[in-house]
Amino acid sequence: MKFEASKWASFVLTASLTLSSLDVVDAKKSRVPKQRLSHDVAPQHYHVTLVPKRDCSFSGSVAIQLDVTNSTNQLVFNAKGLEIDEDSVTLKRLNKDAGEIDILQINNEVDNNEYNAEENYKNLTLDFTVRDFVTLGSEEPLSSPGRYLLYMEFNGTMNSRRTLGLYCSPSPGTGKHKDRTGRWMVASAFEPNLASTAFPCWDEPGFKANFTISLAHDNRTVTLSNMPLRISKPYDNSDGEGWRLDTFHTTPKMSPYLVGVMISENVAHLDSKLNGDRPLRIWGHPGRVQYGDLPLRLAKRHMEFLEDYMSFQDPLPKQDMLTVRNYIAGGLENWGIVSYDEKLILFDPRYRRNKQVVLRCSNLIAHELSHIWFGNLVTPNWWDDIWLSEGFSSYFAVLSTSKVYPVWGHETASWILARENSMEVDARDTTHPLRPQLSPGSGFREVFDQIIYNKGQSIVRMLNFTIGEQALKEGLRNYIRKRAYATASHDLLWSELEKAAGGFANLPENVSLAEVMDSWLNRPGYPVVSVIRDYSAGEITISQRSILDKEDAREDASAAWWIPLTYTYDGENGTTTSVRLWLNPAEINTTIDDPAPSDKWLLFNLHGAGYYRVRYDRDNAAYLLNDLSDLWLDDRVQVVSDMVELARLGFSPVSDALNALSSMKNEMSPYPWLAILGSAHKTLSLFRGTELEDMFTEFLNEILSVGMTRVEEDDVHRKELVSLSCEVGVTKCTKMADELFKKWAEDPNHKIPEDIRGSVYCYGVAHGDSKSWQMVNSRFASSADAKDKKDLLKALACTKDSNLLSKYLKWTLEPSKGGPGSKKTSTMFKALAKRDPEMLLSALVSQETDKKRNPRWKKLLEHVALEVNNEKQLNQLRQLLMADQDEFKSDFGGNAVISMAESNVDWLERNAGQTKAWLKKHEAMSAVKSKKLSKGSRGI
Ligand SMILES: *[C@@H]1O[C@H](CO)[C@@H](O)[C@H](O)[C@H]1NC(C)=O
Ligand SMILES: *[C@@H]1O[C@H](CO)[C@@H](O)[C@H](O)[C@H]1NC(C)=O
Ligand SMILES: *[C@@H]1O[C@H](CO)[C@@H](O)[C@H](O)[C@H]1NC(C)=O
Ligand SMILES: *[C@@H]1O[C@H](CO)[C@@H](O)[C@H](O)[C@H]1NC(C)=O
Ligand SMILES: *[C@@H]1O[C@H](CO)[C@@H](O)[C@H](O)[C@H]1NC(C)=O
Ligand SMILES: *[C@@H]1O[C@H](CO)[C@@H](O)[C@H](O)[C@H]1NC(C)=O
Repeated sequence: MKFEASKWASFVLTASLTLSSLDVVDAKKSRVPKQRLSHDVAPQHYHVTLVPKRDCSFSGSVAIQLDVTNSTNQLVFNAKGLEIDEDSVTLKRLNKDAGEIDILQINNEVDNNEYNAEENYKNLTLDFTVRDFVTLGSEEPLSSPGRYLLYMEFNGTMNSRRTLGLYCSPSPGTGKHKDRTGRWMVASAFEPNLASTAFPCWDEPGFKANFTISLAHDNRTVTLSNMPLRISKPYDNSDGEGWRLDTFHTTPKMSPYLVGVMISENVAHLDSKLNGDRPLRIWGHPGRVQYGDLPLRLAKRHMEFLEDYMSFQDPLPKQDMLTVRNYIAGGLENWGIVSYDEKLILFDPRYRRNKQVVLRCSNLIAHELSHIWFGNLVTPNWWDDIWLSEGFSSYFAVLSTSKVYPVWGHETASWILARENSMEVDARDTTHPLRPQLSPGSGFREVFDQIIYNKGQSIVRMLNFTIGEQALKEGLRNYIRKRAYATASHDLLWSELEKAAGGFANLPENVSLAEVMDSWLNRPGYPVVSVIRDYSAGEITISQRSILDKEDAREDASAAWWIPLTYTYDGENGTTTSVRLWLNPAEINTTIDDPAPSDKWLLFNLHGAGYYRVRYDRDNAAYLLNDLSDLWLDDRVQVVSDMVELARLGFSPVSDALNALSSMKNEMSPYPWLAILGSAHKTLSLFRGTELEDMFTEFLNEILSVGMTRVEEDDVHRKELVSLSCEVGVTKCTKMADELFKKWAEDPNHKIPEDIRGSVYCYGVAHGDSKSWQMVNSRFASSADAKDKKDLLKALACTKDSNLLSKYLKWTLEPSKGGPGSKKTSTMFKALAKRDPEMLLSALVSQETDKKRNPRWKKLLEHVALEVNNEKQLNQLRQLLMADQDEFKSDFGGNAVISMAESNVDWLERNAGQTKAWLKKHEAMSAVKSKKLSKGSRGI
């Protein structure tokens, strides 16, 4: 799935994808199960019949063929919020020679003869005491090996609040009406483990089976499922005349979360064909679906590229693309019936001029289609290896888009975003390894976050450069061929890639790829590689340290990575991106001869291909900054972003960051800007409320004023550039925001470009009166677009009116007493944390209620901790987190949150003096310069 895969923030591709994916996880409904299902039995085939009603209730039945591999007298499976009719439950042993059963014959009535079934099992008991699990007990044990047929009927209620699980947009007039198109619709979003909200099943990715789906519906509606329709028959239903039961062809073996259904009225489609005459269709609202020509073309070309690359054709005979308004994620990869958020796919053709909008659409489609190979055909054994699906799909989304819709710079922007977004989160004490340890009963938060998508993508990119493009392709093809319709884990992937790469050829001697990758997979954070040149001795000393290490020296050799190092130097002939040196985790320091002349720069990590940052000695840093314009674009990006970000994290001197930021005045390409803006913004917030705030604001104003003169409408960095520029008062930005806000205030239909919308609203609120605030608030209430709503709600926190801010605070802390309600709490909380962390902390500390003990609130405190920069705030945070430390620690890791805030306070203590000195000197120099300039001009 993607995100926008959810996971959740920006207009630009990767980030926006990631954003939505996070949203996919409903904290309440979908949690890592407390226990794993037993492999004593393996479901082979499900026949699921669903009968959804207009009031959003539904009933159904399921017949499951099971193989028993270990004799047992109980079957444990999943059912969430379903009421199983105990009288309907039957369990039969099938004859061994039953073979494949034509499951169509078992609709509702099971005929023993048809199945060669032996006696029914009697005295079955059902136990529902463990939430989400059902235990079916039998006095007589099921024998092994043996094939059984388990049948039951059930009913339940569809989700009518969110497009999650088996969901239903109610008809207008039922009171719960959400989808403003006013059509009744049923569809599904089951990842990660919500198939069991629709039918009882073994709801783990490893229990792959064939699925036959039957949907009962009245003749005003259309049905779709993973496979094409096989047969449609009249269906008796007490609810009215004209019902039909549509049964679809049986799917290949797949995980339950990939089951997809749709029943909808008032839906239209556009048709195309994949090669081999396979239908490719896009479905949506009749008023929108005509914009589906572009997504159809993109999908067709992505399929061609991906099927060719993987050398394995999608086994499904058709592909449908379903568009859903305000969908829970950017997209979800239900096999053969992929769901997308309508606005990301069916946008007005006049936005096609904006390359970023088309790229986002292309990336999203390619991401979901890549899941056919990474997730659908080959499925990770368990959710902790989900990066095998999401990391690879993110990587191939970019690769396929670069072939199918080539836009110069797109690959560059994509790797920058993946790397920066992931490293930002990976530098926090609350990060987790790429392969997370999922604690039973916790949310799926860590399964669909920045780390999984963006670090996953970055690690695949590093692999590509390390073992080579050809080996990556070979290895992946073998991996897919060997594990199609089954499951796999990273071990198998490593061994296939290693074989394809020709053993040790590209690896450290006698070290396996599995060993090399182990640290990248299982250690949180990323390495910082120090490259210190001894200019007189002509040597370089290279060492590594984790970004999460607080101490200067590395404590533990095992806490390190095998790092592929590449380098070049000023004037080198024949630069190569092949690995020149493996940094061995067991060695504290590695010394090599310095190939570069002592007055020339030396550069590591070419193209930023390795998932690490590099810290240089002062002279080499200066050489690099001096010659920045000589470097390849990708290298300029990594040099400036490493300097700015390592300084923000206290790993290199703040003067490096300030010098690097100054150099941006000469930067004509958007990509280095894209890489440093987030980091610069965060650095500014470290100075909040101190005497340095104004000085640093002034400095950024000077740099960004230059940047603002060069930005184009569809530049990838425009969102962040405008956000920061308006905040530090760059005239070009504030004027634009002011104008746009006024136009929009007069005419709500005046469209503000989506990427800068949030900044414009915020500027308007910050510089407007209470009337502007009220106006934004009422447009928030009436907006139908979930993303626009979020931007509006966030903007309300930008007010400088303390009464209004208090009101906002009250809404946040007491959602039951007015305001937008508790579903918006997290958006408001984050907005407040950025706007005024001290006010928020004081309010939380003085709050009498229990709310702050609520784990959800505690997770939000991470956002406050990021903004803390003085002792007072730190103590308040400690007070909040220490009160019930044990409870918190086990739930979330309060110590990590406090430690993040402590780092900020320490950082400021250590760097304030140096920053001030640098900025003073810079001010003085600028003053001299501008004096000279004005003198000069007077002379003319
Ligand atoms: C079979 O089940 C028994 C009892 O639950 C268990 O001890 C044993 O390990 C299982 N064997 C296999 C191969 O799963
Ligand atoms: C079912 O349960 C009843 C009462 O507990 C018992 O008399 C009977 O023998 C059981 N039947 C089987 C087949 O186990
Ligand atoms: C499910 O069926 C039972 C028994 O017919 C009924 O009492 C219950 O209300 C039904 N639940 C739903 C959600 O339809
Ligand atoms: C739907 O079924 C009803 C009842 O049989 C029938 O009157 C009506 O014509 C049917 N509508 C369509 C579009 O087939
Ligand atoms: C089940 O799936 C496999 C492929 O995974 C396929 O070969 C087989 O035909 C399917 N079974 C049925 C009954 O369709
Ligand atoms: C993969 O690596 C090769 C060098 O081996 C490089 O030329 C290519 O651009 C890389 N592709 C991606 C998508 O990073």
